[in-house]
Amino acid sequence: MKKTVENKKPNTGFKKRFNKYFDELKWLYFEIYKNDENAFDFFCKMLERMYLERAEDLKAWDKKRTKDSGWYKDNKREGMLLYVDNFADTVKGVQEHLDYLDETGVNYLHLMPLLESPEGRSDGGYAVSDFRKVDPKLGTMDDLLALSEECHKKDISICLDFVMNHTSEDHIWAKSAKAGDRTAQERYFFFDDWRVPNEFEKTVPQVFPTTAPGNFTWCPEVGKVVMTTFYPYQWDLNYRNPTVFNDMTENMLFLCNQGVDIVRLDATPYIWKTPGTTCRNLPEVHTLVRMMKIAAEIVCPGTLLLGEVVMEPKEVVPYFGTVEKPECDLLYNVTTMASLWHTVATHDTRLLQHQLYSTFSLPKEYVFLNYLRCHDDIGWGLDYNYLEQFGVEEVNHKKYLNDFFRGYIYGSEARGELYNDDPTLGDARLCGTTASLSGIEAAEYERDEIKKETGIKLDIMLHAFLFSLSGIPVLYSGDEIGQLNDYTYHEDPLRREDSRYLHRGKFSWEDAKKKTNKKTREGRIYSAIRDLREMRKKHKAFFAEADTWLIPTGNDCVVAFGRYFENEKVICMFNFSNMQQRIYTAEQEEYKDLFTNEKIKADCVDLQPYEYRWIALKYKN
Ligand code: GLC
Repeated sequence: MKKTVENKKPNTGFKKRFNKYFDELKWLYFEIYKNDENAFDFFCKMLERMYLERAEDLKAWDKKRTKDSGWYKDNKREGMLLYVDNFADTVKGVQEHLDYLDETGVNYLHLMPLLESPEGRSDGGYAVSDFRKVDPKLGTMDDLLALSEECHKKDISICLDFVMNHTSEDHIWAKSAKAGDRTAQERYFFFDDWRVPNEFEKTVPQVFPTTAPGNFTWCPEVGKVVMTTFYPYQWDLNYRNPTVFNDMTENMLFLCNQGVDIVRLDATPYIWKTPGTTCRNLPEVHTLVRMMKIAAEIVCPGTLLLGEVVMEPKEVVPYFGTVEKPECDLLYNVTTMASLWHTVATHDTRLLQHQLYSTFSLPKEYVFLNYLRCHDDIGWGLDYNYLEQFGVEEVNHKKYLNDFFRGYIYGSEARGELYNDDPTLGDARLCGTTASLSGIEAAEYERDEIKKETGIKLDIMLHAFLFSLSGIPVLYSGDEIGQLNDYTYHEDPLRREDSRYLHRGKFSWEDAKKKTNKKTREGRIYSAIRDLREMRKKHKAFFAEADTWLIPTGNDCVVAFGRYFENEKVICMFNFSNMQQRIYTAEQEEYKDLFTNEKIKADCVDLQPYEYRWIALKYKN
C-alpha cells in the first residue's frame, strides 16, 4: 500500500533538483505565461506537494533508476502494449497474468488507457472524465498501485497514457463549462459563433475526416462552439491558460505517484493552438514538454516521458529536445514502422535504407521505441520527397499500399481494412494485425500450407527486424502468438465505425496455450521471438549505444546493416522478397551465424525468401 510522507519538508534531493532547474523553469514559464508570478508560484508549490505525496518505495525506485540512468538503453528491454480488458478483464487480472508476461520477456508494460471514460464516447479510453480514477469496470487506483508494486519486484516498468490534449465532455471541468461557469470555459476553446472556428478550419487538417469531420463542435448547453480536434466528445484543453498547465501537470505527477514509470504523452504535437497555423508542432509545444520533463525530473526522477508524435519524419526528432535539455526520453519510431510496411508491399528496401540511414546518424542518447503494430492505424507518413526520384507519387502510392494490404493486388495475401478514408485527399490509413497483414489469415482460411509458411516467415522476419534495431522493441499484445484480425467489431454499434477495433480483439488464452507447440502458428512465432530475444540479450552489439551503419548489398530486395559495440560486430540482413536473393558485400572476414553457429563468409550470401540472418564477429583486444 501507498506509504506517504506527511507534513515533512522535502529532502535535499528534491531541493537540489529544484534549484538545479529553477532558472530554466522560470524562464520558460514566464516566457509562455507572460510573467504570471502567481501561476508560477502555484506550479512550484504543486511540485513540492506532489513530491511529499510520493511514496517512500517509489522514491527508492527513483534512486535506483537515476543511479543507472541508462537502464532503458541496454539490450534487455522488451515492451508490450495491451488493453487491460482484452488481455485479462481487469487490472487485477493483469497482475494474475504477470507470469505470462514475464515469461514472454516483457519488462516494459504499456497498459492502454484505463482511467474513467464514458462508455460509447471514450475513443478507446482516450476521452478521460477523471484523471484520478481507474475505470470501475477495470478496477481501482489501489489495484493499479498493487500492480505497479508487483511489477517493480519483477523489474517491469509500467507505461500509462497521459491524455493531455483534451478531456472527455463528461470531465468535471467540461460539465461546469456546460453549466455556464466561465472559469471552467476558459480551460477550453469556446467561441460565441463560427467565425473564428471557420478561420481555424482553413489551415487545420482533420484527424478523423470520416469518423469525426471538422475540428469544432456546437455545444447546445451554452450556445457556443467548442474546439474538438479529435472526436466531438473530446474537448481540447487550452494550454494558454496556466491553470490548465498547472492542473494537468499535477494530474501527470499524480499518475507517476501511482507507480507509473513511463508517461506516454498522448497526441503531444497538438497541445498548442494558434489561428492561421496547422495547430501541430508549434514551438510552444516544445516549451510545455520541456517543462513537464523538468517537473518529472524534480518530483519523480526515475520517470521517463514517451512522446506520441505520429508525424512526418522531420517533426519527430525535435521532440527529443537537445542532449543537454531533453524533452522526451523516448519517441515512437513511427517512420521506420511505416517504411517497413511499405517495404513489405514493394519488396524494395531503398526507402527503408534511407530511413535507417537518418536514424543511424542521430545522437545515441535518443532512444526510440520500435514497433510493428500498435492500437492505432498505420498512417502512410513516408518520405515522399525521397520516393519521388523513383517516380513514386504520394496519393497513388498510398492507394497502392492500401490496396496491397487489403489483398486487392495480385500476389498479396494481406488482410487489412481502411481507416478514415478521405476520398478528397486520397489519404486513407490502414488497420490489421501483423499476422493478418503478413498473409497468415488468408492462408489459414484457404488452408494453404505453402502460403501459410510464407506468411509465418514474413511475420517472423519482421519481428527479427524489430529486435535488430537500437531502442526498445515493443510487441502489440497477441502478436507474440500471431493473433489474427477480429471482425466482431462490425456487429458492435459502439465500435463499428472505427476500424481500429479490427486489431483490438480479445487476447485468446486458448491460442496462447499452443505457444509451446512448434507445429502451430502460435508456437512457431512465439518460439522464434523468444530466440530473438535471448540472442539479443546475449550480445551487447544490440545496446542502444552501439554503432550502426548500412551495408551495401547490391540488391534492392535486401537490407543489411552492421552493429558494433565493445569488440563485437553483428551484421543483420533481411530479404524482403518472396524469392531467393544473392547479395555481395565488401565484408571479407569470416563470421559466425548466431542462430546456427555455422561459419559464414559475408562477401557473398544467398538468402531464402523472407530469410533473415544475424552473423557476428569478435575482434581481439
Ligand atoms: C492518440 C491515440 C489514439 C487516440 C488519439 C486521441 O493518437 O493513440 O488512439 O484516438 O490520441 O486521444
